[in-house]
Amino acid sequence: MNQASLHRLLSSKSEDQSPESFFQLRMATNLSLIQNLFFSLYPEEKHASSFEHLMVLLPKLYETRPEELKLQDMERVSSGNWYQSEQMVGMQMYVEHFNKDLNGLLEKLPYLKDFGVNFLHLMPITTRPSGENDGGYAVNSYHKVDERYGSQKDLLNLTKKLRKEGMYLMLDFVVNHTSNEFPWAKKAKKGEKKYQDFYYTYPDETIPKEFEKTLPEVFPETSPGNYTYIPEMKRWVMTVFNSYQWDLNYTNPEVFLEMLEQLVKLSNLGVDVIRFDALAFLWKKMGTISQNLAEAHMLVSLFRMCLQVVAPGTIFLAEAIVAPKEIVKYFGEGIHYGNECEIAYNASLMALLWNSIATKKTILLYKSLENVPDKPKDGTWLNYIRCHDDIGLGYENQFIEEIGWNPGQHRKFLLDYYCQRLDWSPAKGLLFMYNPKTDDGRITGSAASLLGLEKAIEENNDTLINASVSKVILLHGIVLAFGGIPMFYAGDEIGTINDYSFLEKDDKKGDSRWVNRPYQDWGTIEKLSKKKLPQSKIFHTLKRMVQIRKESPVFADKVQPALYHTGNHHIFAFERTDASSQGLLVLCNFDENSQVVDTSWIMKLGYFAKGEPKDLVSNKKVSLQSGLLQLDPYQILWLKRA
Ligand code: GLC
Repeated sequence: MNQASLHRLLSSKSEDQSPESFFQLRMATNLSLIQNLFFSLYPEEKHASSFEHLMVLLPKLYETRPEELKLQDMERVSSGNWYQSEQMVGMQMYVEHFNKDLNGLLEKLPYLKDFGVNFLHLMPITTRPSGENDGGYAVNSYHKVDERYGSQKDLLNLTKKLRKEGMYLMLDFVVNHTSNEFPWAKKAKKGEKKYQDFYYTYPDETIPKEFEKTLPEVFPETSPGNYTYIPEMKRWVMTVFNSYQWDLNYTNPEVFLEMLEQLVKLSNLGVDVIRFDALAFLWKKMGTISQNLAEAHMLVSLFRMCLQVVAPGTIFLAEAIVAPKEIVKYFGEGIHYGNECEIAYNASLMALLWNSIATKKTILLYKSLENVPDKPKDGTWLNYIRCHDDIGLGYENQFIEEIGWNPGQHRKFLLDYYCQRLDWSPAKGLLFMYNPKTDDGRITGSAASLLGLEKAIEENNDTLINASVSKVILLHGIVLAFGGIPMFYAGDEIGTINDYSFLEKDDKKGDSRWVNRPYQDWGTIEKLSKKKLPQSKIFHTLKRMVQIRKESPVFADKVQPALYHTGNHHIFAFERTDASSQGLLVLCNFDENSQVVDTSWIMKLGYFAKGEPKDLVSNKKVSLQSGLLQLDPYQILWLKRA
């Protein structure tokens, strides 16, 4: 049982139902965990006074929480794991590219509601340096709205409206680094030692050079190395991402305490889900790659346990784009079981789906998914196919080898397939951050372009257009049904292709991820009633699938999906069940040709008990020929067991 469940249990038994009494209860329940985590990171002999500070800080922060949110917190805790519901359907967007600013977004809520979205992830909207700023991930403030998006009042207005509409909001907490213009960085540059100690700064290169021996490079093309020399302070500073993003030094407890305040301020704006950006990087240790360290997990759990005392209705999403067995750990394991993040990006599923599209086979998909350790039952995945970042090829080499492929050559094939180095490939993607030292590269591009729509439209080839439309529906159909929160990337619901305008902008042209950060195409949206357009087919099919998801509790993330091997390497099959006898069998064909599967196992699962089952996607009954079920090229079937 995780701490949230314990709070639910205790509060249901408590006679005093006031928010204050509930706060005291959470404080008492989490205290020994907080103490333990704190002193494991910051030994008591040296840091007892910082712990005392934390004890004073928590009630103070609770006082700053708006009354309305305190009441909502109580409702959320008592209602259980709201984030696992089949009602959750997300969309991620750049506010300025969606409809200009926060007020513009407000005007488009009817569009989002009509499509079925009830959960928004807005890309960073707080102040940032002018010029290069990593799309706002270089933060000048953690809660002050940048004027290009509107005012603080506009944000509060938006969060209020979302609450009224029963919608949820996710914003980023860029917990690993600030910009080089953040007030602490400015003071550090002026020579204030206190703030130089908020970052990893060094008078010379001795220590940086030692660290560099084992640290990988995140942006090798544009920001090689992990340190930047700052002439104003005559010191080197650790900059794992871009040279203008300074890594925070969490070995200093003052940094944790200050960041906790920033986190609460963000949550108090009415944010429901906090995206913990780049959290795998939070702790650094010489001689390691400084990712996924045990201390990073303790730190995340410490943030979780503290925010749960102050604002239990706000939950965390782990942005850990790391190896599958490492991602699962961000839900909390061992003594922190279920006490880190409630949600984590299912980056493994995402990358594997792109592998299956390119290879037309599902062997690596099965092999890898079957080896992902189970997540805690209170955690859930955020399932997606594209986001604002690149697609990394983070498959386990061992599994690639077991299939009989060479990992290096296989990754090269995937880069060739997606990044326009094979004439026959339908994909139009771009290479991102190729590192000649390691031969590593990543892929960027919009879902529709990577799935062939851009090329098919250029060639005016209806067969290819239809194939790419089917692929867009196939991948989203998996994400909608797999278990967890499906997150659409704005524009993908209408098959938006690559946007090359970044190449003309000085502050963007070095970062090819901008090719998939397009403006929402409201012109096309106006034409969606023209049923023949590929964009209309995508939109209307996905919209119907979202509705189907919301109408059936079998889509809620209560039971892990069960994978089934069909004997056909082009097919992916999994079943979702719930506590009643309801079931949903998903069958996917990753091949460009029709494929058949034997149905004896499907019969045994009971899908034909009442005659031929209906495929919910096409709304047609499936029919068998000689006991075989046929799937069209790239078809996805959602079969429902009544
Ligand atoms: C996360 C973001 C990415 C950003 C990085 C550094 O990975 O998703 O866009 O570049 O953090 O903040």
